[in-house]
Order: sequence, then C-alpha cells, then structure tokens
Amino acid sequence: MDKKVTVVGAGNVGATAAQRLAEKELCDVVLIDIIEGVPQGKALDLAEAAPIEKHDAHIVGANAYEASAGSDIVIITAGIPRKPGMSRDDLISTNAGIVKSVTKEVARFSPKASLIIVSNPLDAMCHVAFEASGFPKNRVMGMAGVLDSARFRAFIAMELNVSVENTHAFVLGGHGDTMVPLPRYSTVAGIPITELLSKERIDALVKRTANGGAEIVSLLKTGSAYYAPASAAVEMAESILKDKKKILPCAAYLEGEYGIQGLFIGVPVKLGRNGIEEVIQIRITEAEQAALNKSAAAVRELVEVLKKLK
Ligand code: NAI
Ligand code: 2OP
Repeated sequence: MDKKVTVVGAGNVGATAAQRLAEKELCDVVLIDIIEGVPQGKALDLAEAAPIEKHDAHIVGANAYEASAGSDIVIITAGIPRKPGMSRDDLISTNAGIVKSVTKEVARFSPKASLIIVSNPLDAMCHVAFEASGFPKNRVMGMAGVLDSARFRAFIAMELNVSVENTHAFVLGGHGDTMVPLPRYSTVAGIPITELLSKERIDALVKRTANGGAEIVSLLKTGSAYYAPASAAVEMAESILKDKKKILPCAAYLEGEYGIQGLFIGVPVKLGRNGIEEVIQIRITEAEQAALNKSAAAVRELVEVLKKLK
C-alpha cells in the first residue's frame, strides 16, 4: 500500500482498528504496544487472515517505534480503559503519562503524521498530545463525536425501524456526560427527527447516547466498547488518507470558534489530506450554546487537572 498508519495500543480498540484498516485495504499497518509479543502476535494473526479476507495490506507488530517511521497517520489508543463505576475522567493521571510518552516517540519518527487520539479522557488527552507533539492544530484531533453520533444513529434507526444508512446525527461537545446531541440536525432520509418522534422519545434517545459508553461498560464489566470506537477512528483515518473531505464531528483545538478559546472539544470539521481542513460553524440556539459551554467547562476542569500533574 502507498499509505501507512500506525496504531499505538494493541488492545481492544487498537487491534480492531488495525483489522478494519487492513480489511478495507486503506494502508499498511504498524501495531505497537508496550507488552512484548502482543502486537507481534496480533499482527501475525491478522496477516494470516489476509488470504481469506482478500487484502494485501502489510501488518507488522512492534514494541519500538522505528517500524512506525514515516506514517501518514498515527492512531493513539494506548492507555487503560474504564471499569464499572469509573468515569472516563478517573483515567486521567495514568493515561496522561502514557499518551505523553507515546506521542513524543511517534512525533519523532513520523513528524508529518496526523494524530488521531482515542485514549480517555479524550478531550484532555488531545491537549497532552498537542503539547507533546508540537504539531500544528490541524494535525492533532480526537475521536469521540463520530462514535457518539453513530450511537445516536443506531438508536434512532432502532426506534423508527429504518436503515441505519438513512440516519445522520450530530453530537457536539466533550466526550463525557455533558456531550451535546443535536436533535434538530439529526435526520432520517433528510427529515429532522424532531418531525418524526415525540420530545419524550427524543429525550430518551439523547440520554441513552450520552450514557452510551457506560451502558457497554456495565455489560462487559472488564473493559469498554471497542467495535464502534475502532470503526469511528477508521472512518476519520479513511477521510484523511483518501482526502475525502468528509464532515465529521471530531475533537478539534478551537481558537474562538463557537465562542471557545484554547480548548479541544467536539465540533464538526472537514477531514482531508491536511487533517482538519476547516472547523464548520453551524448556527446553534442559545440553549444548545449553553449546553456546549457547560461541556467546555467540564473539559477545561480536566485541563486544569493536567496542569497540576506536571
Ligand atoms: P485495552 O486495555 O484493551 O488496550 C490498551 C492497550 O494500551 C493495552 O494493550 C496496553 O498494553 C497498551 N499500552 C499501555 N501503555 C502503553 C504504552 N506506554 N505504550 C504502548 N502501549 C501501551 O483498552 P481499549 O479498550 O483498547 O481502550 C484504549 C483506550 O481508549 C482507553 O483509554 C479507553 O478509555 C479509550 N477509549 C476511547 C474511546 C473514545 O471514544 N475516545 C472509545 C473507546 C475507548
Ligand atoms: C466509550 O464511549 C469508553 O469512551 C469510551 O465507549
């Protein structure tokens, strides 16, 4: 393949993302983890599936970063996931150290890469990677909104018994309990769901979306979601690798957009070969802006915690 993507963290999300990247034949894949043998074993297993899955992506596993050199994209999933009773925010001190050290290595070997951060707490980890890489803001972004809006879409399709392909959904804000699903901009075959569902049903779907990560954690008990998160990270990577210029909700560093200054938070962006090529500013109501401001305040609190960890 003429494109190369490194996935750091060969756990649930990382290994599944590597599988999807390879099976879609988007790029060669380098899988890196701190545990000896795990990335090598998973990469070999995936390579042995290739003749059956019919793709020619090369997949290698490594514990060191030399193999990642010259990557077009690095997806960072390294860190610990939450367990029942934990919030994403409980992960901050452990994952900040991991994301910082990983980012320094990937930036050294792939200075031109776009970074897609997945590790939680997501928006705060984007700050860590932004600072540790020294990369421009267009090349550092977080995956959360694509996942959160995919959950909203899945719930809308289940509710209305329609194809998921007919659904579109918008979720703004941080990846946490304060995320801001926008029903007015969420549609089925172009029709806003506000025309199709009662306020009570929409409120229930919005609540389930905001609680979507915790719902999976409470079922799995030993970890968090990974199939949909991996799909979401790969959709972002695909838009960059193919210069598709898809508009997707991603955590982006804002400098005044939506009235927010110096903060990573989820907003619609255009993703192309240069990473975030534009932050799309849509008109939102006063109530939606207030909810976004509340979400931004929650992210800012975590960024303050990061400062104290230094
Ligand atoms: P996991 O535990 O299955 O995998 C994490 C992997 O990171 C492990 O294999 C571990 O050995 C590796 N790792 C730890 N320290 C490392 C280091 N210094 N260098 C390289 N590798 C290292 O966890 P899972 O389920 O894959 O989740 C990964 C992270 O992604 C968690 O923080 C989780 O909360 C987050 N997440 C975020 C989502 C989002 O929407 N942004 C969605 C799902 C998960
Ligand atoms: C999720 O939303 C844990 O952030 C992860 O599933």
